[in-house]
Amino acid sequence: MTLLSVNNLATEFNTQAGPRRAIDGVSFSVERGEVLGIVGESGSGKSVTALSIMGLIDPQVGRISGGSITFDGRDLVGLKLAELQALRGKRISMVFQEPLSALNPCFTIGDQIGEVFVAHGDGAGAATRARVLELLKLVHIPDPEGILRRYPHEISGGMRQRAMIAMALAYTPDLLIADEPTTALDVTIQAQVLNLIDRLRQELKLAVILITHDIGIVAQYTDRVAVMYGGRIVETGPAETLLSAPRHPYTIGLLASVPRLGARRPGERLQEIPGTVPSITEILPGCRFASRCAHRMSRCDEQAPALVERAPGQAAACWWTEAA
Ligand SMILES: Nc1ncnc2c1ncn2[C@@H]1O[C@H](COP(=O)(O)OP(=O)(O)O)[C@@H](O)[C@H]1O
Ligand SMILES: [Mg+2]
Repeated sequence: MTLLSVNNLATEFNTQAGPRRAIDGVSFSVERGEVLGIVGESGSGKSVTALSIMGLIDPQVGRISGGSITFDGRDLVGLKLAELQALRGKRISMVFQEPLSALNPCFTIGDQIGEVFVAHGDGAGAATRARVLELLKLVHIPDPEGILRRYPHEISGGMRQRAMIAMALAYTPDLLIADEPTTALDVTIQAQVLNLIDRLRQELKLAVILITHDIGIVAQYTDRVAVMYGGRIVETGPAETLLSAPRHPYTIGLLASVPRLGARRPGERLQEIPGTVPSITEILPGCRFASRCAHRMSRCDEQAPALVERAPGQAAACWWTEAA
């Protein structure tokens, strides 16, 4: 059953040249209980997509300028602040990359998790304290009673991220958005946190949007994948088929830059994709990846390709793929 459906989303920011789209016609859906991976290099629009869903685009600097975000049958775009706040932290929660900047340094971990309940009108009594303790146990924090009284800087990065996840799960949301939840962590701790999210998904039947720049993570922890580039989805499909038979040159490039993944021929070496993600102020009528693409044709610079299904459930937005 579809829980979240994003349709033709456009999110723009004010720039010196006027409003420019950071997200330009993005559509995807998330089923209940499934993990959707959103992958792409830094600057491709992953966080802006997440913040748009959460209603957290600062109105001083930007806005959702088109499309709809339907969550459990309700369009979140244009919802009143109070209605959004009632959903946030309760039915949709988000975990950020750097828990230290998301946590308040002046409050103990126990007080901050407790604050989620207070914010939703549930008070700070004994029942809340018991629930906070239960949450810390749920995310496998050793010595939860001790951690309750600690300040964020007094615990490790891995424990802080677990505390953030506990906070996000306070009300057992339907949807958890994890935006590069392990990027700031050591490799061994990364795996622990990702395994934790995976276990919680199964136990609590959460839908998860797992955002990462690391396509290696996608293979292990997601059911379906959307590959983003320049504020658009360039390829989408089931994780298994998309990773074993990528259609878009950008996906192929991402896979070729990851050790142990991708269909590399013997002797072929790992390669970074040359060039960088375009800025939102660059006006490009065609495919935004064209300047970095090994298969560029004249059409690529003239007209933006639309997502076209190439295999069951797998679609790519690419003129070269379409011509093949
Ligand atoms: N507040 C902002 N003002 C202007 N541009 C922004 C703002 N936030 C993000 N952007 C731009 O939007 C694009 C997408 O950013 P983001 O979603 O953060 O990328 P990602 O999370 O994939 O690394 C980038 O080009 C970024 O510079
Ligand atoms: Mg980001």
